[in-house]
Amino acid sequence: MSQQLGGQQILILKEGSTRTRGRDAQGMNITAAIAVASAVRTTLGPKGMDKMLVDTIGDVVITNDGVTILKEMDIEHPAAKMMVEVAKTQDDEVGDGTTTAVVIGGELLKKAEGLLEQDVHPTIIAAGYRQAAEKAQEFLKDIAIDVKATDKAMLKKIAETAMTGKGAEASKDKLCDLVVKAVTMVADEDGTVNTDNIKVEKKTGGSIDDSEIVEGVLIDKERVHPSMPKKVTNAKILLLNAAVEFKKTEVDAEINITHPDQLQAFLDEEERMVRSIVDKIVASGATVLFCQKGIDDIAQHYLSKAGIFATRRVKKSDMEKLARATGASLVSSIDAITKEELGKAGLVEERKVSGEEMTFVEQCKNPKAVSIIVRGGTEHVVDELERAINDALRVVAVVVEDKKIVVGGGAPETELSLRLREYAASVGGRAQLAIEAFASALEVIPRTLAENAGLDPIDMLVEIRAAHEKGKKTFGLNVYEGKAADMKAAGVFEPLRVKTQAISSAAEAAIMILRIDDVIASSKSPSPEGGMPPGGMGGMGGMGGMPPGMGDY
Ligand SMILES: Nc1ncnc2c1ncn2[C@@H]1O[C@H](COP(=O)(O)OP(=O)(O)O)[C@@H](O)[C@H]1O
Ligand SMILES: [Mg+2]
Repeated sequence: MSQQLGGQQILILKEGSTRTRGRDAQGMNITAAIAVASAVRTTLGPKGMDKMLVDTIGDVVITNDGVTILKEMDIEHPAAKMMVEVAKTQDDEVGDGTTTAVVIGGELLKKAEGLLEQDVHPTIIAAGYRQAAEKAQEFLKDIAIDVKATDKAMLKKIAETAMTGKGAEASKDKLCDLVVKAVTMVADEDGTVNTDNIKVEKKTGGSIDDSEIVEGVLIDKERVHPSMPKKVTNAKILLLNAAVEFKKTEVDAEINITHPDQLQAFLDEEERMVRSIVDKIVASGATVLFCQKGIDDIAQHYLSKAGIFATRRVKKSDMEKLARATGASLVSSIDAITKEELGKAGLVEERKVSGEEMTFVEQCKNPKAVSIIVRGGTEHVVDELERAINDALRVVAVVVEDKKIVVGGGAPETELSLRLREYAASVGGRAQLAIEAFASALEVIPRTLAENAGLDPIDMLVEIRAAHEKGKKTFGLNVYEGKAADMKAAGVFEPLRVKTQAISSAAEAAIMILRIDDVIASSKSPSPEGGMPPGGMGGMGGMGGMPPGMGDY
C-alpha cells in the first residue's frame, strides 16, 4: 500500500502484503470466528452429536469434545484461531466447558454484528461487553451454591454432568465413582488437587465395566525374567537411572586374546563386574527394581537368583510417579545405592490386563498417586472415554478446590441474561444496547441445548425464561422430556469456574476481535527479486508499469 506525498508514492509495506480495513476487516474476522463456533455448536449438551475427524494421514478421531475438535481442525484464519485459543484456555483452566465458551464467543460476535449494522461504534460495543462481562461475574457468584469437598454424592453428580453425552452413558455410574474416588485420594489437606497425580492408562479390550482404579501406580511393563517372583509383598523399591550391565568402554577397544584362558578370564571379569552391581542392589535390601535403563542377560540371571522383581526401560514420567508414591529417591549411579534411597509399597505384582502383563505398585507409602485403567471395545471408544474421564477428573478437582457450583442445563445463562437486561436498563444510552446484546447472546446455551435435542428452541426458551421471571433460578432444560425443569432436582451440576471462565474468555476474545479494524497481512511467499510474483498477473505484487499495491487503498 502506499501514500501520496506531492505526487511521490511512498511505500510502507513489503510487496505482496494485503490490507483490509474498517467494516470489511470486522466483517471478515467476525464471520471467521462465528464459523468456528458453528463448527462445534451441534456437539453441545447431553444430546449433542459427535464429529469424525480424519487427518491427512487418515487417522480417525471420533469425539464430542470441543477443544479436541478445534485442535484437530488445523484452523488457519487468525480471528478463527483466537476462538480456538478460547477453547484451549478453558481446557487449561477448568478442563470442561470448552464448547460452551466457544459458542458464547461466537454468539457475542453475531449480536455485535447486528449492532454494527445499526451503526453502533465497535468501541461502544466493546465497552458495553466489558461492563456486561464484569456484571455477569458478579451475578454468577451470587447464584453459586456452596458445597463441601467431602460431599461425595455431589461430586459424583458433577462428574456425571461432565460425562453426559460422551459415549460413556451405559457405565457412567461406575466411571464417576472411579473419578470421585481418584480425586479424593489425591486431594491435599489444604484442598488443592493435582490431577497430574492421576494416571489414566488406556487398554483396548474388555468392556467399559472392566475399568478399574488402582491405588498406586500402574506401569505398562513386565518383569524382565520369568523366574523372578510375580508378586512381592512389603516391597522395598529401588528406582535406578543407571544401566545394570557390563560397562562397555567409551572408545572402541580391541582385545587380543591369544590363549583360551584369557578369554575365560575376560568373561569372568565381565560376570564379576555385573555381579558386584547386583550384590550392591541386594545389599541395600531392595526387593523390587525399576530401572530406567537396560538390564543385561547376566544381570537378569543374578537378579532373579536373588529373588528380585525387576523391570527395565521404565519411562521417566513413570519413575517420577513411582518416586512420589513410594518415597524412593531416583538413584542415578550404582555407587549411590543405599538402604536410605529405597521406597516402600505393600504390594508389587505383575498382572494381566487385556492379555498384556502390567506391573501394579499398590498400597504405597504415600497414596498420592493413583491410576485408572480405562477399558473399552475399540480404540476409538477408549480414546473418547479417556477424554470424558479427564473432563470429569478436572471438574471434580475444581469443585474440591473451589467448593462452589452452579446448576447446568442452561439455567445460569438464562438467569444471567435476565439480570443483565435489568442492569442494562439502569445503564441506559448506547451502552444499554451492547449490554442487552450480551444478555441475549448468553441464551445461546439453552437454545442450542434445545436444538441439539431436536426440540423447538423458541418454545423451550420462552418456558425457561418464564420460570426465571417467577424467581425459579435453577430452572433449565430437561433435554430428555423436552420441558423446563429444576436442574437442582435433576442433579445437573457444574463447577462455578466452568461458567466464570467460559464467559470471561468468550467476552475477551469477542472484544479483541471487535476492536480490530485493520488487518495487514504479509504475503506468504514473497516474490523473487525483480521477478514476477508467483501468482502471476493476478498477484497483488508489482506488475509491469503499475506501482506495487496500486489497487490497494
Ligand atoms: N443432564 C443434563 N440436562 C441438561 N443439560 C445438561 C445435562 N448434562 C449436561 N448438560 C449441559 O450441557 C452443557 C455442556 O455440554 P458439553 O457437550 O459437555 O459441552 P462443554 O464442552 O461446553 O462442556 C452444559 O450447559 C451442561 O449444563
Ligand atoms: Mg462438558
